[in-house]
Formats: sequence, C-alpha cells, structure tokens
Amino acid sequence: MKYDLKELTLDEKLLLLTGRDNWSTNGLCGKIKSVFMADGPCGLRKVEEENTSDDETKLGITLGSHTRLATAMPALSVVANSWNEEAAYLDGATIASDCVEGAVDVLLAPGVNIKRNVLNGRNFEYFSEDPYLTGKLARAFVEGVQDQGVGACVKHFVANNNERDRYCTSSEVDDRTLHEIYLPAFEETIKAKPWTVMCSYNPVNGVQMSHNAKMLKKVLREELGFDGLIVSDWEAVWDHPKAVKATLDLRMPANADAFDQLKAAYEKGKITEEEIDFCVQNVLSLAEKTEKVERKVKYSQEQRHENAVKIAKEGIVLLKNEEGLLPLNKNQKIAVLGTLSAKIPQGGGSAIVSTGYRLKMLSQALGEKLGREVYYGPAIWRDVLTTSSLIKQHMQEIYHSDVAILCVGEQAPVVAEGCERETMKLTAVQEDLILRTAKYNKNVVVLVYGGSAIDMSAWIDSVKAVIFVGYAGEGINEALSSILLGETNPSGKLNETFPLCIEDTLTKGILDDGMVDYYSEGVLVGYRYYDTKEKGVLFPFGYGLSYSKFEYSDLKVEKVGKTDYIVSYNITNISDIDGKEVSQVYVKDVFASVLRPEKELKGFSKDFIKAGETKRVSIELNFRSFAYYSVVYDEWTVEDGDFVVMVGASSRDIRLSQKLFLNTEE
Ligand code: GLC
Repeated sequence: MKYDLKELTLDEKLLLLTGRDNWSTNGLCGKIKSVFMADGPCGLRKVEEENTSDDETKLGITLGSHTRLATAMPALSVVANSWNEEAAYLDGATIASDCVEGAVDVLLAPGVNIKRNVLNGRNFEYFSEDPYLTGKLARAFVEGVQDQGVGACVKHFVANNNERDRYCTSSEVDDRTLHEIYLPAFEETIKAKPWTVMCSYNPVNGVQMSHNAKMLKKVLREELGFDGLIVSDWEAVWDHPKAVKATLDLRMPANADAFDQLKAAYEKGKITEEEIDFCVQNVLSLAEKTEKVERKVKYSQEQRHENAVKIAKEGIVLLKNEEGLLPLNKNQKIAVLGTLSAKIPQGGGSAIVSTGYRLKMLSQALGEKLGREVYYGPAIWRDVLTTSSLIKQHMQEIYHSDVAILCVGEQAPVVAEGCERETMKLTAVQEDLILRTAKYNKNVVVLVYGGSAIDMSAWIDSVKAVIFVGYAGEGINEALSSILLGETNPSGKLNETFPLCIEDTLTKGILDDGMVDYYSEGVLVGYRYYDTKEKGVLFPFGYGLSYSKFEYSDLKVEKVGKTDYIVSYNITNISDIDGKEVSQVYVKDVFASVLRPEKELKGFSKDFIKAGETKRVSIELNFRSFAYYSVVYDEWTVEDGDFVVMVGASSRDIRLSQKLFLNTEE
C-alpha cells in the first residue's frame, strides 16, 4: 500500500471520512490522491462550475451553472430493453471514455433499484422489475466502466423504490423479499468488484441506510462479500458517528460539522480508533486504486456517438405493428408531429447530461435517408402560440400523408429523482392529438418517449403501430429512422410490465402513510404479481416485436448435477428478414412450502438469426435457479419436488415447457 494509515494523525483520518467539496474526497493538501466522483447513468454529468442554490445543494443535485459536455447515452432502462449484456458493457465503456477525458475517477452509476412502483420518477435510471435481468446487465455495465480504469458506484443500497419523501419514508421489507428481490442485483454486480457502493437516503425497516449496520456491515459486506468503499448518497448521512460504526466509509458531499461531530464522538468513546481506521483504510484503498490504474480514452467523440446510436437501436421496443405498417416503404408520404422528435428526451435530476451533439430532427433523419422532404409539425395544441390555421394546416398535412408519426411522452421535470409521476397516462392534450390524428389518417405510428410504463388504453386501439422509444440518448433519431425504414430490425423487449391501468398495480404509487412504505406484496413484484394473480396487462414483461418471425422447438432439459441443468432449444427465423430474438427461461416451483411466484426469470439469450436459419440456444440452470430464501434457515433453500422449466418470447408467451422432478440427493 502506498498510503500507510499509521502515518496519519487522528485529525487527518477524521478529515478523510467526509468529502472536500461536492464531488471530491479530501486529499489532505496533496498527501493523498483526491478522488473525483461524478454522475451518472445516462452519461457523464461533471459539474465544473458550482453555481447552486441552497435547495439544490441540499438535494445533492447540483446542476450547477456549467457541466462538462459529454455523450448523452441511452438511459439504463433503454439499455435494459436491449436484453444485451454486450450493449450494457459498451454503454459503461463509452461513458468511461468521457470520464477519462474529464479526469473523473469514479462514475456514480449504475442504479440497480428494482422497479416496484410504476410511478417512480427514477425508473428511467434503473434496469428492470426483475432482479436477474438487472443483475446481469448491471454487472456488464460495471465491467465496461472499470475495464477503462474508472471506478463504478452501484446504487442506491437498498430498497430505494420510491422517490416521494425518499429521505424519510422507511421501506419496510421482510428478509425473504429483500434477499429474493432487492439484494440479488447488488449481489450479482458485486461479482464485478465495483470500487464503490452508494447507500440510499431511505430508512430500511426503520433505520436510515447510512447508519443501518445490519444492511451495510452484516449483509452488504459480510454476506454479499463487498470489499470496496461505501459512500453515502449526497446529504444522506443523519448521524455520522453512527454511520462510521455501521462502516459507511465516506460522507458526501462536504459538511462543515462533520469533523467536530466525529472528533467529539471519538473523545466520548462513541466511536473507536479501530472503527475509524476501517473506514479510513477504504478511503485510502480507493485513492490508491485511482492512482495506480492505467487509463486511456478508448472511444473518440465520434465513436461514443456511434455507440449511443448502436445501443439505442438495440433498446427501442416495437410494441404494435398492425397490418405490417412498419417498416415504412420509401415511397410513402410521411408527416412527423411533436416536438419530442426535435430534442433529446431525458429524465431530470442527477442523471441529466449536457451534450454538445447537434441533434438531427427525426423528420430530417428520415428525409436524408429518403432523399426528400418529410413534413414536421410541432403539434402543440391549445397553446397560446397556436392558431386555428396552424391546427388546420397540421390536420391537412396528416390527411394528405400516407403515414402520420406522432411523438408523445413525458420527460424532466415530471420524470426525475425526488418525484413520483401523478399518473401513468399521457397528458389529455397528447391523447387528444392521437385520437384527432387517427380521425384524419388510418396509418398512425405513435412513438412513446417515457421513463416507465405508460397507460395507453385511451388510444392504442385507434392506431396501427406503437414504438416505445424511452430516453434513447443523442443517437435517438438515427436509431429511430433506421428502424422505421427497416434498415434496422427492432429487437428490444420490455424490462418492465406495462399494466392496463394504475389501479391494477400493487403499489398504485400511494405510500401507506408517508413515513412507512410497507412492502406487503412481498416477492410478488412486477410480472411475479401479474402472472401469479393472472391479471391482464397491456404488454407483459419481456415483450417486444420484430420484423422477423421466430419459432421455438426441440426443448431439452438435461441434468448435469444435483441442481444443475442445461436447457437447450432451437429458434428458427421463419421470415425472410434477418433479426435478433431475445428468448427467456423461466422456472416454476409447483408445490412449494412457501408462497412462490408463478414464474421467475432464470436465464435469457439474445441471438442474431438469419432469415430461414435455425440456432440452438443453451442456458445453464443452477442451485439458485430453483432456490428460495428461507427465513427459517437464513439461507437459500431448494426443496425437492416438481418444477417446470419454461422458454418464452415474453413472460406471457411461453413457447416450450418441460416438467422435471428435482431430487437433490441424486
Ligand atoms: C443524488 C442521487 C444520486 C446521485 C447523487 C450525486 O441525490 O440520489 O443518485 O449520484 O445525488 O448527484
């Protein structure tokens, strides 16, 4: 070790346990490398010039007067819709190039919180309602970041699933649900040895996470094996001495009272030198890592943009395509309506990215590919700037077009950390626009820019095609135009269920009483709930269409160990268009002694299959594929008995299945 604890005075040690400013650790006037941290999950947000109001600083969201320009990557929810670990790795590696160029040592991403509440304003920053999909993609993202010599920060540990009153509402979660739903993504991501984990604002079972020793020390460090640095969310430390005892290593951001609080606690014997040294050692180890690591910029500015386009193409989801309206043919007259087609839609808060990329409007991107003019209209109704003649002009353009493309959705500040959406629906104005357009044109394509599930019930039957775009980054219109014209075959699938209406969801977005959010649903989160209760949904978890058609056949489930199996099956592309298919493997415990979901995702594969070709896919199942977490034995447990292995194109489109009797003695 370059930095020796023994060479530090007590005061120097105490100074190291709190940030020096909003974004960096204390360097003890050059004695130690100061580590610079910056957000975020959608690209680098490096605040270079602080100009923040008190509120912003309190919120820990310092949008500042100037943030460094960086590549606006697709949000992690779009990366998750790709179901592609290579895309997740590429996303992390691309953001890391901006970090290396911007002298950022640690990227404050990925967020791996589970999408329990469909109205959560931060869902766009997270991967999925399913812990297995989240864990696999987050692990790849962390590997992508850290292979570039930049540290990752897995956040927000743990059960930070609501944004309203996020600082004080206690997530009341039982141990089994924590282990089966909210911890596995951290567990899987820790296998990539992230340099840091960020603790969340919220209490868990009544104790603030920043000093929740059971969760930080017993679970995160001892049970899950995390051996890096635990950093607080910004302003998430309520009692610093208690946090040190809980092994929270670093309080961020700077805090004028921290040193005195710690010194007084030490002098009163409330914290020991040993407890202080444990945290200081983790700060020194992080500083040493950032100093020793070899770093070089892997991707040029242009390559980063191309990577953003590539990932967006993988993560955009085709939800409806009646009469094969898409892909469009080159001769059709197209009208594009909606200002969202002329911007890079983003969620708000710390995930915001300032990009220098000059976006091509969707109509321009289409026009360039078609070699002709494509009409664009802002389609802002009932706005003081809008005149009836403009509306009439829009409608005439739509009436005389072969296809009308409508861009609708929501973005910051409605969708952001610290916020809950008020509804799953689009605004009445947007729903009116869709219905009005459908009156004048029978070929309507709706592009939805959102951070989470949207209630489309008011209009979806009136349109022929729907694409869920999400916040697909600065490459959004190159990706969309390529998909709309058939140069790219869409291959994204939903990382979360789209319920029919908010009343069908478990959480309904309503907190129990503002101080406690009781996770009464237990392990029945997302499709685990809808499928177990056989509730109808608008679009199921894992759903997405392609321009190709795929057939599944010849399932084999081969036992290769006590609880180890190899599941293999054929996928044939029976269309004349090359494409990619995401196949999913689910497991069901038929006669469990505890309540278990109807099915649980335990494997997936995304495969490129040429027209007419067949590909054999193979997925491995192991002990954890069959296990539940027993709170009696305090460990993962497999019960012998009947299971079903299912292979599906979505959680509701099971193409193949096979029963098996698990006998762990054989
Ligand atoms: C915010 C967010 C966290 C972010 C941090 C720094 O409040 O909760 O995700 O990394 O503060 O901006």
